[in-house]
Amino acid sequence: MEKILLSIKNLHKEFNQNTILNSIDLDVRQGEVIVIIGPSGCGKSTFLRCLNGLEVIQGGEIKLNGKPIQKDAKNISSMRQKIGMVFQSYDLFPHKTILENIILAPIKVQKRNREEVESEAMQLLERVGLANRKNDFPRQLSGGQKQRIAIVRALIMHPKVLLLDEITAALDPEMVHEVLKVVLDLAKSGITMLIVTHEMAFAKAIADRVLFLEHGEIAEESHNPKAFFERPETERARHFLKSFEF
Ligand SMILES: Nc1ncnc2c1ncn2[C@@H]1O[C@H](COP(=O)(O)OP(=O)(O)OP(=O)(O)O)[C@@H](O)[C@H]1O
Ligand SMILES: [Mg+2]
Repeated sequence: MEKILLSIKNLHKEFNQNTILNSIDLDVRQGEVIVIIGPSGCGKSTFLRCLNGLEVIQGGEIKLNGKPIQKDAKNISSMRQKIGMVFQSYDLFPHKTILENIILAPIKVQKRNREEVESEAMQLLERVGLANRKNDFPRQLSGGQKQRIAIVRALIMHPKVLLLDEITAALDPEMVHEVLKVVLDLAKSGITMLIVTHEMAFAKAIADRVLFLEHGEIAEESHNPKAFFERPETERARHFLKSFEF
């Protein structure tokens, strides 16, 4: 068995005294792909934001390789570099080229050598099929292409874990596929990921483990995604999955 990379114990999160996440326990192993599904407002995004130290938590602990992740800790910026995050909106800098968007953080934040970073950027661009767009500006790319750039921008930081929050939710259907293909490729290459998605067929195909979140709690967890999507054990998960066709 692979080692535990990310360990979450009894996580409790509140917003204005309202409980948003309650008693969340999760150990994520190296190379594992965990898909998180659940109704709108159940706390999926908040959970990922906690893992990245973007939210103060009111109880429990989150550790990456044994080191705590805490929003107000001195080391949070170096911890955050180990956890890549891609959101629904890609937030590329509009006045910088694709290549400049990708190499900015590794050079400025990680103080890496420009040549080395550029060469890695080109390899990653190849991998997502966009090497020929390096001198374009974000506005010249489609949503799906921009989202693939956002993935490259996260990968070039060499994160230990990648958190993906509904990265295809804002895309036209024909662009969803090209982005999901990149994510499937990452999963095969052994990157540890936590993925929030409403694409159930994709979830079924990529997950090593599925978490069904409801009202801020893990209502069902399965190490057998095929079985889960065909026959969830809880009535609540069954009801939730009914609203999707896949
Ligand atoms: N900054 C905030 N301040 C107060 N409440 C918040 C804040 N962010 C989220 N919430 C609340 O926390 C709950 C969980 O929100 P979250 O965005 O994590 O849900 P979600 O599962 O990602 O939903 P969706 O599927 O719609 O993206 C919601 O009730 C939301 O209103
Ligand atoms: Mg969300």
